[in-house]
Amino acid sequence: MKQTTDVITVLGAGYVGLTTAAILANSGYRVFAVEPNFQRLEAIKKGRSFFYEQGLDALIGAGLKAGTLIPTDSYEASIPSSSFVFSCVGTPDNPDGSSNLTYVFSAAESAAALLQPKAIYIQKSTVPVGTGSKIERLFADKKLPNAYVSNPEFLREGTALADSLFFDRIVVGGQDKAALERVVSLYKQVETCREELARLAGLERVERAGAYITTNLNSAELIKVTSNAFLALKISFANSIAKLADETEADINEVMDAVGADWRIGRAFLNAGRGYGGGCFPKDVSGLISSASDYGVDLSIMTAAAEVNDSMPGYIAHKAQRKLGGLAGKRFAVLGLSFKAGTSDARRSAGVRLANILSHSKASVHVYDPEANEEARSDLRKDIVLHDSAEAAYEQADAVFVATAWPQLVALDLAKLKAAMNGTLLVDCENSFTIADVTAAGLQYMGIGRKTT
Ligand code: UDX
Repeated sequence: MKQTTDVITVLGAGYVGLTTAAILANSGYRVFAVEPNFQRLEAIKKGRSFFYEQGLDALIGAGLKAGTLIPTDSYEASIPSSSFVFSCVGTPDNPDGSSNLTYVFSAAESAAALLQPKAIYIQKSTVPVGTGSKIERLFADKKLPNAYVSNPEFLREGTALADSLFFDRIVVGGQDKAALERVVSLYKQVETCREELARLAGLERVERAGAYITTNLNSAELIKVTSNAFLALKISFANSIAKLADETEADINEVMDAVGADWRIGRAFLNAGRGYGGGCFPKDVSGLISSASDYGVDLSIMTAAAEVNDSMPGYIAHKAQRKLGGLAGKRFAVLGLSFKAGTSDARRSAGVRLANILSHSKASVHVYDPEANEEARSDLRKDIVLHDSAEAAYEQADAVFVATAWPQLVALDLAKLKAAMNGTLLVDCENSFTIADVTAAGLQYMGIGRKTT
């Protein structure tokens, strides 16, 4: 690995920031990972991320050991010596759905006072189109010469390292061509050591396009939110067609396999189920609708996508209610609380919403997730019981809802499950089970847009 003299600051050590910092710190750079949250910072100092992400702790540990990853809560200790400052701070949504840019602007404002003249300020946080121009004005008002670059992040939780190392595309947008090239050179340096990093993290190599795309500032900002919005649209489209499949005995998996075989459409993100959640899609969709409306543009197509998505947990509860002749007084297990498999993140999780709907319908609800119990706890209604194993959660259940298709949940011993249950209904909220396997175990199968047995 080539050792460079460049020092980098990464502001915010969440999913994006910590992944970025851990990769750069093992690619020849000295990297400050700036995290204001005391508990998160202490975890990083001990070589652990505060969330579950495959391979990440190995890279954090290696960076700490080499002294190239420096966790800190101080802007003063990090920014003045850095040639690149990445802003990876959170962009939550406001109650009205618009993006809350408080952290984005306060990070830029605080960094501005400390930047060395040639340092490049790189925005990785997902921001509405037009935000970068405002930060450029903020820098100009302070007579700062620093270049501003938008470099949106496309990594997915659960596959963050693999997505970053073996990327589809790196997008950099801004006015200063030399600054764009310098940012690209960082990623080219990472490319030279990515096989080594993948080995260190225990990851397989993934074949991806690996394109570098240079655009203007506003395009880069819009690329990020448009990508997420389009993926959300695909999911809600699949869920709408799944509702039609439910009424007609078509099988949504068969339908989407064939529809997705058309190269113009593609099979990815057409999996029907309980809908999307997490820290990105819900807020990016509402943020896009809101920012479009600020420019007088109607994005009702995305409003519809959000409405379909919101309807899914209730739709599933209603399907089960019809099948069981009511929910009140019944005992249910909801297995899988993270917003998708492979992560401990339970933000805006459909599994949590489903559990709350069932509990609200006066059912007794028992839940379990392999990684997300703790993160889900505060969002669950108080009378829901969290368990340490799937077996404990499904004991005596009248129906079992597999809300998140963790591989270990899809591989549950169905005969054992049937024997422990009081009823026989398995609700496959991500359409991940083979119907014949479920019925062979003596269970009744219910999917989303698939035949109910
Ligand atoms: C997403 C984008 O994929 C990523 O590029 C961006 O940087 C951040 O937002 P992430 O939120 O980690 O990543 O998860 P992703 O794998 O995209 O899944 C999002 C949600 O959609 C999950 O709840 C998942 O279960 C759901 N989903 C996905 C479906 O319901 N059906 C599908 O076909 C695909």
